[in-house]
Amino acid sequence: MSIPAVRGFHDALPEAARVLGRIERIAAQVLERHGFSEVRLPIVERTELFARSIGETTDIVEKEMYTFPDRDGTLLTLRPEGTAPLARAFVEHHLDQRDQVSRLYYVGPMFRHERPQKGRLRQFHQVGAELIGREDPLADAETLVCLVDVLEAVGVPEPRLLVGSLGDEACRPAYRDELRAFGEARSERLCGNCRRRLDKNPLRILDCKEEGCREATADAPALVDRLCAACGEHFAQVRALLDAQGIAWELDRRLVRGLDYYVRTTFEVTAAGLGAQGAIGAGGRYDGLLAQIGGPATSGIGFALGVERLRIALEAADPGLEQRLSAEASPTVFVMPIGAAAEVDALRIARRLRAEGVRVELGGGRSVKSQMRRADKLGAARVLLIGDEELAARRATLRDMREKADQRLAVDMDLEGAALVAAVGEAR
Ligand code: HAM
Repeated sequence: MSIPAVRGFHDALPEAARVLGRIERIAAQVLERHGFSEVRLPIVERTELFARSIGETTDIVEKEMYTFPDRDGTLLTLRPEGTAPLARAFVEHHLDQRDQVSRLYYVGPMFRHERPQKGRLRQFHQVGAELIGREDPLADAETLVCLVDVLEAVGVPEPRLLVGSLGDEACRPAYRDELRAFGEARSERLCGNCRRRLDKNPLRILDCKEEGCREATADAPALVDRLCAACGEHFAQVRALLDAQGIAWELDRRLVRGLDYYVRTTFEVTAAGLGAQGAIGAGGRYDGLLAQIGGPATSGIGFALGVERLRIALEAADPGLEQRLSAEASPTVFVMPIGAAAEVDALRIARRLRAEGVRVELGGGRSVKSQMRRADKLGAARVLLIGDEELAARRATLRDMREKADQRLAVDMDLEGAALVAAVGEAR
């Protein structure tokens, strides 16, 4: 009996991996251009890191983490997100002492035990970027501009950027009390989950997907109307900077995030084609996070994009993408040795062409007919055939697979470098 993959854990075969890899590469290029440097962090952390940073009463910490005891009993968790691990690394390596401002990004798998559906996996990949050491509104605007630049370069059609502010410790507690009282007055209309969390985390009632909760909270007070002077001014400046750049954004008066470390500017990006799981990326400011995990009182802001969701959004808009990328990956030349004697030269010519940057697939082992079929199936542009006759004359036979007429050219087998490429390219 065969052993299937675990539910929610997907294989990406070449066609899908090509699209995913392209998204990650383009995103990394844009981030490098914005001055970000890559970091590689472990996928396993101590459970307490996430409990302390993401928050004990969030969905992620309450029910979605893959947590297990290590052999010595230490509780470990497969990272459900990248911001807390990056903050942990930042504190551990005293990165604030290297530079006042750090721009770091990461690409890799995250794990959440959610109910799998389209766009929702238990292992998914994020490209995340964190700007640490700045609290001024320009940093927020810069981060959002960076996010928009990544989406544009990747080619996501018509992303919607929703922006809100979650205030800070000066204004949020009073709002939390107000919202708790609002919720308590209608608690019989709220779901069990919301009722249970009302005391510790009343903001969650704004984010609940239950129809009853949505109706009951439709006229709830909004935090953006209750910001203190400092948060209000900060948010106003961020908005003005975005407007001045002509960035299309919408104010989301109910934006709450599933992670407790956020303060002030928070945001989410959605795209068409994803159904219920519309968020292709999200992020926000987390000024207290580093201090909370034992580090310096340093501010930060960042975002993470869901790579699989980006792929769904791209393919919904451009159904031919996968096929086009596969065609681009076809070998330019299929080198075909006929018989054992030709193999040495076939391998040598393949290496010479590859050294010049040509995409080469090496055939071998089978009959001319089956090798031709294979070259055809791979979509090879040209075939370079080496048989006994070719060996004797030191001239390989070149065939252009895209030409209807069965035209054949002879290529000097001992050519090297650019001369070899030119000779093979002449069939074009
Ligand atoms: P998040 O909103 O939890 O934020 O996740 C960011 C993105 O990851 C989502 O918008 C979505 O595209 C993708 N994602 C999340 N869960 C899944 C899933 N189960 N399957 C597929 N994709 C998923 C964070 O993780 C924060 N660390 C973002 C951040 C960075 N905030 C500041 N810096």
